[in-house]
Amino acid sequence: MTDEEQRKTAAAFGPPDLEWLDGDVPRAEGFGDTYFSKAGGLAETRHVFLSGNGLPERFEGRESFTIAEFGFGTGLNLLAAVQALESVASPPELTFISFELHPLTSEQLSRALNAFPELTDWAEKLTAVWSPQPGWNILELGRVRLALGVGDARVLIGDLHNVPEVLEHTGIGALKIDAWFLDGFSPAKNPELWDEELLKAAADLTAENGTLATYTSAGWVRRNLQGAGFDIEKLKGYAGKREMVIGRKAAFLG
Ligand SMILES: C[S@@+](CC[C@H](N)C(=O)[O-])C[C@H]1O[C@@H](n2cnc3c(N)ncnc32)[C@H](O)[C@@H]1O
Repeated sequence: MTDEEQRKTAAAFGPPDLEWLDGDVPRAEGFGDTYFSKAGGLAETRHVFLSGNGLPERFEGRESFTIAEFGFGTGLNLLAAVQALESVASPPELTFISFELHPLTSEQLSRALNAFPELTDWAEKLTAVWSPQPGWNILELGRVRLALGVGDARVLIGDLHNVPEVLEHTGIGALKIDAWFLDGFSPAKNPELWDEELLKAAADLTAENGTLATYTSAGWVRRNLQGAGFDIEKLKGYAGKREMVIGRKAAFLG
């Protein structure tokens, strides 16, 4: 790790300093970036992370399904996935694994999620159990199990297959991630979450035919994803963004 990476890894996992743009869009001062689009966070999540991973359609007919995310942030992506899960006639058990270096406080979480009235019930359930501690936190939200790793994703990912609550819920004996939400801050501001070693570790944990989606189409991120073993494709991005990227675990990785 570089000195800069070590500084960030060693930093306390304390809450971020937030600025609120237009009243309700949180921006992390430390990274200089927003948690979701000013043009509509929920619509962006549905366009990029849900549709990009073929959800909710891929929930159909499954007994269990595992999503993993880099960057839990406000929990908006989790709640949008839970809402999508509820739209399916016979929904699977969902394991949602996410990594977060600087968990929001309950107050910050509530304020951010207040902007999405249709998610209020789930936002209340989440804030009621929200008390993140460094390391793995297992939170039960109905048929959804949230495994939240508080710390640096680059460190915690190596430990993931040793978390019994995660293995137990995926129901298949070995951790196999069906869909990745790659949601670090912009690669220029948060290169750590787009690191090739981290993406390789993600690919190793991915199921056959597992997919990924991300809002960025930065050239070096695409190359890192390919180097990690994903076949990738560019699609139309959300709102003003020309492109986004989806990917599938390349067959030769098995
Ligand atoms: C764009 S935000 C995520 C938004 C989120 N998915 C949501 O639904 O609100 C990126 C997140 O990545 C976190 N992050 C940045 N570097 C990290 C690292 N090395 N390990 C884990 N989390 C990190 C930030 O603290 C921030 O919460």
